[in-house]
Amino acid sequence: MRKRTNSKITGTGSFAPPRILTNYDLEKMVETSDEWIIARTGIRERRIAEDGTGPSDLAFEASKIALKEAGVEPEQIDLILLGTVTPDYPLPSTACILQDKLKAKNAAVLDIVAACSGFIYGLSIASAFIAIGQYKNVLVIGVETLSKIVNWEDRNTCVLFGDGAGAAVVSATEEEGGILGTFLSGDGSLANLLHIPVGGAKAPLTNENIHLKQHYISMQGSEVFKSAVRAMEDAAEHIIQKVGLSSEQIDLLIPHQANIRIIEALAKRLKLPMDKVYVNIDRYGNTSAASVPIALDEARRKGLIKKGSNTVLVAFGAGFTWGSAVIRW
Ligand code: ACO
Repeated sequence: MRKRTNSKITGTGSFAPPRILTNYDLEKMVETSDEWIIARTGIRERRIAEDGTGPSDLAFEASKIALKEAGVEPEQIDLILLGTVTPDYPLPSTACILQDKLKAKNAAVLDIVAACSGFIYGLSIASAFIAIGQYKNVLVIGVETLSKIVNWEDRNTCVLFGDGAGAAVVSATEEEGGILGTFLSGDGSLANLLHIPVGGAKAPLTNENIHLKQHYISMQGSEVFKSAVRAMEDAAEHIIQKVGLSSEQIDLLIPHQANIRIIEALAKRLKLPMDKVYVNIDRYGNTSAASVPIALDEARRKGLIKKGSNTVLVAFGAGFTWGSAVIRW
């Protein structure tokens, strides 16, 4: 049998739009308070893209940083995988638009619609293509402008989300380590707990459904909360075991940043102290597909990831989708 090629992350980058929306700003928009938002979610502020700024613009900034660190030229990218639920346009894919911006003219291009798990789905697909020898350099991105699909009159959702982008270059390597394993899963039977009811081909936009604000995110928060904790625990345990590690050998957990209470419950179930868990939800809120790669990039830049250490990534999102990965650096 042909030997599988290993893959490793050779560069990361992230970018968030400069405009900050604080909890105090939100107090002026809906019936809420800074205390409620911090106590129930851990969020203090989030970033908001200006009108006219698309996910491809944010992804472009994050990708340039990741490519520079990896020492990979745009023409050397074989595949662009871009996780988003807020594409620039319904057609074509945002990956296509990014390919043109980067002048990555040799890259195949694909958007991944897996909500908050989009980046981990991308890492998994990238390492599978590298393993079979089809590609050498894959650019994986998670990017969202959730501010454009949130109902700013609905306090149940508008306080939670933010905009941003994170990118990673995944490259073939002869070395041991790198991406040790990935795990992906989903459950479409629970789709209605977190969805946008209209705007697709089955229920196109009409004056009436826009008037009813059905083209925005609708979420049953407490149900999503319970599923998120359970699924992320399962996904993290599954992949840690599959690659032959124990919880004590995990140096850093980078979970999807949806709610500080979800993150703390997850850490407790995995028996990991919070100083081994990366948290930046206070500054960005939930940026869906961008959340894990922004956190990963920040953790690397802060020197929290040392050579030889083991990092677990885990995410859960609309669909439901969930997934995990273990990386040895
Ligand atoms: N300010 C003040 N009060 C609020 C606000 C707000 N912003 N939002 C809700 N409330 C009220 C509710 O109306 C409710 O009032 P009531 O009891 O009078 O009806 C009360 O607070 C409690 O509401 P709950 O929904 O029970 O609050 P909960 O503790 O569950 O927190 C939250 C809500 C933060 C949304 C939480 O459920 C959560 O984080 N869920 C998970 C979200 C998530 O993980 N999403 C991941 C995927 S996202 C993606 O894929 C794009």
